[in-house]
Amino acid sequence: MSSITFAPAERLWLLRTPNTAYVLRLADDDTPTHVYWGTPLDLPEVTALAVAGHALTSSFETLPGPDELTVAAGARFGPPSLSVRFADDTAVVEWTYVGHDVDGGHLAVHLADRHYPLAVTLHYRVHDDSDVIERWTTVRNTSDDEPISLVRLDSAAWAMPDRMEYRVSHVVGGWSNECQLHRTAVPVAETVFTSRRGITSHQANPWLMLDAGDADETHGEVWSTALAWSGSWRITLHREPSGRCAWTGGFGHDGTTWQLTPGESLDTPVFAGAYTPHGFGATSQTWHDFTRQHVLPHPDELRPVLYNSWEATSFDVDEAGQRELAALAADIGVELFVMDDGWFGGRRTDHAGLGDWQPYPGAFPNGLRPLVDDVHKLGMAFGLWVEPEMVNPDSDLYRSHPDWVLHMANRRRTELRNQLVLNFGRPDVVDWALDWLDGLVVDNELDYLKWDMNRLFTEAGWPGHPDPDRLWIDHTRGVYRVMAELRARHPRLRIESCSGGGGRTDLGILAYTDQVWTSDNTDAADRIAIQHGYSQIYPAHTMAAWVTDCPNPTTARTTPLVFRFHVAMAGVLGIGGDLSTWPAADLSLATELIATYREVRSAVQHGRQYRLVHGPALTSVAYVTDDEVVVFGWRITEPFGRRPALMRLVGLDPAAEYRDERTGTVHIGATLMASGIDMALPAGDHASVLIRLHRLR
Ligand code: GLA
Repeated sequence: MSSITFAPAERLWLLRTPNTAYVLRLADDDTPTHVYWGTPLDLPEVTALAVAGHALTSSFETLPGPDELTVAAGARFGPPSLSVRFADDTAVVEWTYVGHDVDGGHLAVHLADRHYPLAVTLHYRVHDDSDVIERWTTVRNTSDDEPISLVRLDSAAWAMPDRMEYRVSHVVGGWSNECQLHRTAVPVAETVFTSRRGITSHQANPWLMLDAGDADETHGEVWSTALAWSGSWRITLHREPSGRCAWTGGFGHDGTTWQLTPGESLDTPVFAGAYTPHGFGATSQTWHDFTRQHVLPHPDELRPVLYNSWEATSFDVDEAGQRELAALAADIGVELFVMDDGWFGGRRTDHAGLGDWQPYPGAFPNGLRPLVDDVHKLGMAFGLWVEPEMVNPDSDLYRSHPDWVLHMANRRRTELRNQLVLNFGRPDVVDWALDWLDGLVVDNELDYLKWDMNRLFTEAGWPGHPDPDRLWIDHTRGVYRVMAELRARHPRLRIESCSGGGGRTDLGILAYTDQVWTSDNTDAADRIAIQHGYSQIYPAHTMAAWVTDCPNPTTARTTPLVFRFHVAMAGVLGIGGDLSTWPAADLSLATELIATYREVRSAVQHGRQYRLVHGPALTSVAYVTDDEVVVFGWRITEPFGRRPALMRLVGLDPAAEYRDERTGTVHIGATLMASGIDMALPAGDHASVLIRLHRLR
């Protein structure tokens, strides 16, 4: 159960989630101050904590805190969460407490500036079924005539308790190299994690896990936060020489502002946090569960096995070729056929066509409908690739609306992949996108859209608009709006989030989409690390993974087909190879493995995920439900002269019996967890195994 308790004498709120407690209070000057975040404590205990405080030791130290939303005020020298400039250039906020509301699991603490027309609400939401605490902020300009410049508006500031050491886990990477997990000591400094690219980014992802340097996969305290936002973002982590470690985060990056007009309010996205004393594995499981329980539109639905044409055909799509691939895909058990880029406008290469969303007559003389109908007749759903936020200068759309793109007066329009970004902050652009997407879905009875976004923002201006920086936030909101409206109009429609692979993976986009294209890198050996990083926060049934051809087009590496399957089967299995070139033996192995996937996918997609071990000699991940255990083992390189250890499983019922479907051997849960199971991984590099255990009683 969760609860929210207010202690009026201490002006303190105690938030309880099923297994954690979070405490804030108002300081004497009404500053909302952080008190505690950790294992459950009761009111008398947290009240004692609240009064303990820290003393100001010299005129060179900062004031007590940390704050729940840090402002530039008094002797505060850390990074502000809220930074404003009022009409007379005053740039300091002084709080007055206005009141609070509790509505179910939602606490709203209302504050205002002591003098200026600024109202601020700090929001907290707790759930009965999750230890994730959602936090966000609303600001409002309460004047009739004075603008307020918002220099920075974060969703929330978070802090972990004082420890001797601090360590941060996060992911870094690049295109085709997303989600590389980094775990490193927090420097005594301000460390900025950010995307200035207009999207979540391949280079960083807006979540952090903090620990005292002593946590591992199954043990130790971890404080984690994740931002639900798909545009530019910034999280600043600061560790002070005096010992404190806190962080503040939200949408937009440094230097972008928002002019809050009289009467206007602005809501930030959610920056959620979770504490667990049980290590990184439990942290990930908490986020997986939360994503299922409170983020995804259709969490209980099993994701279909898809086929995608991109690696098979590149831009060279036409009706006959797609029909041939669809027939082969249906034969091996595919359930959703997705035609990728190249079907529209003058799109024969990446130089032209984006923006002209009519089928290319040379390839689809009768439109898409005949192909879609055929695919439906084959018993598969039909999906289509689109890139709505983009335009090639060589397109009819750009020729008629050159002002629709992000641009600045007297500046070049930098092209990346020969394309420019349409400004989805503009209502006319959003209306246009909604209109043609809606028509496309209706006319072709589309079941699925792969929504791509293949370049970053440059020259991000909006000439003529009084507050052009808004586009950094309003573009993302425009994307959300179009997706939400499409889903509302077409409840059967499912959407995949893609941005050159995993450039738009976050809890914001997952509220409007069903799965993410994890990476353009489909090399199974590289995927193991990418999937490991992905799994830190995001659940397996949002992680699309294709089996493609070898040598791999990105890395030139060749790996066995079964290895490629076993890696992809750990997420949402898809096929992305050119099936027309697959030998009969490969097609038959694919048929068998897709059938197996369909048997294990409820465990993979809905089970509890345990990362058992991670390294080049062996990575193993298990998915556990009440009656089934599915374990994958993958070896990239085989070290000489080392016998693989038994693999100890986690999360089983110690008293239950489990039958190993490979051999029929029956094991006791306690034995599997204490001693382990022989994985019987085949010899050699790029070896893999899939173990299925069924609970007998
Ligand atoms: C991006 C996507 C790919 C593919 C191409 C098409 O790179 O990540 O999967 O759709 O665009 O141009």
